[in-house]
Amino acid sequence: MKPYRSEVLKKSHNRRAFSCGDDALDRYFREQAGQDSQRTGSVVHVLVGAATEEVVGYYTLTNATIRLAEIPPEAAKKLSPYQTLGAVLIGRFAVDQRHQRKGTGTLLLHDAFMRCLEVAEISALSAIVVDPKNDAARGFYEHHDFSPIVEDKPGRMYILFNTIPNALREAVAQNRALREKVRFWQSTPHK
Ligand SMILES: CC(C)(COP(=O)(O)OP(=O)(O)OC[C@H]1O[C@@H](n2cnc3c(N)ncnc32)[C@H](O)[C@@H]1OP(=O)(O)O)[C@@H](O)C(=O)NCCC(=O)NCCS
Repeated sequence: MKPYRSEVLKKSHNRRAFSCGDDALDRYFREQAGQDSQRTGSVVHVLVGAATEEVVGYYTLTNATIRLAEIPPEAAKKLSPYQTLGAVLIGRFAVDQRHQRKGTGTLLLHDAFMRCLEVAEISALSAIVVDPKNDAARGFYEHHDFSPIVEDKPGRMYILFNTIPNALREAVAQNRALREKVRFWQSTPHK
């Protein structure tokens, strides 16, 4: 059995016990995240221990944009020539302290990448952006190949879709094939 499930936040998830060590991120998750999901300010995703039902990490996704001028010219020339490109913002991202430094953050980030790749199949997206809260978070994102944007949003970092690891692309493509099969089956008239 898989040790974790990735789900959109729902009422049954235990948010009280979550603690990542950052007060603002903990408070948001415990007190606001439910409402945020309902009001669609951002969609909150959680990683849940399959055996324990414990929330080991969460992140939020919101549609965003990135300007071509914010990407270094070398990388920008491989993208569409429009001045404003579609992006997804990982607004908040946190792993419970008991699960940090064990690879959970990487798992959570890869889960976010896969969700974003799924969105990119139906709506054009060029980049994922993050606003790291401090040097430790910046180090984590640098480790995962995010780069600082060029212009005037100090601290913001991005990764282009075309640099997301291939293994994740393949997993999403396999899921897509499965989804399409199901859709085909559902749309086939039954006699
Ligand atoms: C930042 C955070 C998400 C990292 O999660 P984690 O589970 O500890 O990270 P992982 O164990 O998956 O680390 C993955 C890799 O990133 C590296 N890494 C983790 N934190 C790092 C840091 N501060 N600087 C550089 N590299 C770092 C690890 O060394 C590891 O490398 P490896 O795969 O070569 O071993 C977690 O510490 C956290 O939730 N912190 C509090 C909230 C926060 O700062 N969130 C960021 C919001 S902006």
